[in-house]
Amino acid sequence: MSVLEIRVLGDPILRDTTNPVAQVTDDVRRLLDDMFETMYAANGVGLAAPQVGRRERICVIDVGDGPLALINPQVTLSQGRVRAEEGCLSIPEIFGEVERALSVTVDALDAQGEPITVHGSELLARAMQHEIDHLHGKLFIDYLSMLKRRSAMAAWDRMKSDFPGFRRVLSAQEVAERGSIRDEEL
Ligand code: NI
Repeated sequence: MSVLEIRVLGDPILRDTTNPVAQVTDDVRRLLDDMFETMYAANGVGLAAPQVGRRERICVIDVGDGPLALINPQVTLSQGRVRAEEGCLSIPEIFGEVERALSVTVDALDAQGEPITVHGSELLARAMQHEIDHLHGKLFIDYLSMLKRRSAMAAWDRMKSDFPGFRRVLSAQEVAERGSIRDEEL
């Protein structure tokens, strides 16, 4: 397994849509393994393929209940609304309040290619909505008010030079310290 580079805001791949996975092959499973490794190394709770420069419609999540791989995920039911602070591994250290469904039902394939249905609420629901957005080129900052978005972008403008070529390379130290903090970035 390998820790992959994370693409950050400004990389055009984050704004592209993804391609549904036609067949869950060993290559897809290898990518899932690398994405879990990368997500845990970055202390994230979710990661979608475009964030590691890939176009497969897949994402990984672990909100503390164990690893969840979702292939071709689709929200089939959403209920309630709730606002909460949200961050993204592709826009590190920038947070904002986003209103999302309180609970969602998601249909997907698992790593074996079997259909699964996942019901989630609270953080799991938020994570699934955030990652599915990534698979369609949407980012959490798109939901912020104009004013909040502008101040988030000003903060990002001061940081983005830390990520040449829109690539975030996790240092050996960050990888070694994995799990020590949970930023709850997605
Ligand atoms: Ni994200």
